[in-house]
Formats: sequence, structure tokens, C-alpha cells
Amino acid sequence: MSHGVTVWFTGLSGSGKSTIARILEKRLKAMGQKVEVLDGDVVRTNLSKGLGFSKEDRDTNIKRIGFVCHLLTRNGVIAIASAISPYREVRDYNRSLIGNFVEVYAKCSLDECVKRDVKGLYKKAMAGEIKGFTGVDDPYEEPLHPEVVCATDQETAEQSADRVLSKLEALGYIEKGCHSPVRGNPESAGSPPARG
Ligand code: ADX
Repeated sequence: MSHGVTVWFTGLSGSGKSTIARILEKRLKAMGQKVEVLDGDVVRTNLSKGLGFSKEDRDTNIKRIGFVCHLLTRNGVIAIASAISPYREVRDYNRSLIGNFVEVYAKCSLDECVKRDVKGLYKKAMAGEIKGFTGVDDPYEEPLHPEVVCATDQETAEQSADRVLSKLEALGYIEKGCHSPVRGNPESAGSPPARG
């Protein structure tokens, strides 16, 4: 059985965690890997339904996601978690619970997240309509030693996913050679060599 691992995405709302996570999921599945994604937005509609955004509720949410990742990982699945997970201590708690843990920091400036404001929540938070919004009036503790940092305001989600795959390969979680990085011209990636 292949090694299970948890790929844990952390970062501000709108930093691109879920987008990279979904690309990663697709690419790992194409390699024949068993993959499960636990996305904060989705988990909050079922497993963590009813929880809010106090430190206590966020920690409960993150521990629940961590527990499921733990079960999946020990059964050889690649679990991909995507949640703000703003508190370092509980991320590190999950790291020691799970063991095979790759932390990916989706690093994006607050300015850029506000500019994107995909869900329109920053606007509301800045107008004071939502209290305790991460990055606005609630803390975000950056990871100190993440395995991968994705500068999502400087690289595409495809490039970020590529770098996560390379790290998984380097750490021995996926076989070498399975993952061929997208090069300068994505059109030609994976196509046979030109003849003539
Ligand atoms: S976490 O802090 O517990 O890790 P999680 O990733 O599950 O958060 O959920 C974050 C999502 O909830 C955000 O992307 C946003 O859509 C929404 N949200 C609603 N209220 C808040 C808030 N106060 N702070 C951050 N995100 C919020």
C-alpha cells in the first residue's frame, strides 16, 4: 500500500487554498492515487455544522478535520485539508497526531485578498458587518516551518500545485517520475516529442 499523507493548506480566506487543493486532487487522482479533500467551507455544512468563528470553535473545527485526516492517512489515502486554520498550536497538534504531514502555506497579502474578495465577505468585515474576520479583526498566525510556501499572488494555482507535487515526490509520498511538472509552455506539457 502506498504511504498515506495529509497535505494541509492554511492561509487567509481568498488566498487560493481550495483552488490549489482541487487541482492537486485532480492530478493525484490521474496518477491513480486515493485522494480525499476536506474543505473548510464544505466541512462547516456537515461535520462542523453549527460551529462559529470564535477561537474555540475554530480549534474544534480544525481538530475534527485533523481527526478525519488522521484516519484517512493511516489507511493509505492522501488527505487534502483546506481551511484557514489560523492558529499555529492546533495545526501543530494535527501535525503530531498525523505524522505524515505536509503543511502548505497559501501566502497572499491581505490587500490582494481584499481586492479579490470572491465571496464579498471582506467588504462586509471592513464595514463592521461581520465581526472577528480573519486578517481584518481576528488573528492569522503564519506557519513557521511549512514544507511548501505558495506565493499565490505571484504564481498561478497550477504552478503552486506543481510545487506541492514536487515536494510530495521529494519526501517519498508519491513515486518519482509520476509527476511531470508543467513547463514554460503548458500546451506542450506531456505531449510526445516533436518528430522530424
Ligand atoms: S477556520 O478558521 O475554522 O479554519 P474555515 O476555513 O473552516 O475557517 O472557514 C472559513 C470560511 O468561512 C471563509 O472562507 C469564509 O467564507 C467564511 N467565514 C465566515 N465568517 C468568517 C470569519 N469571521 N472569519 C473567517 N472566515 C469566515
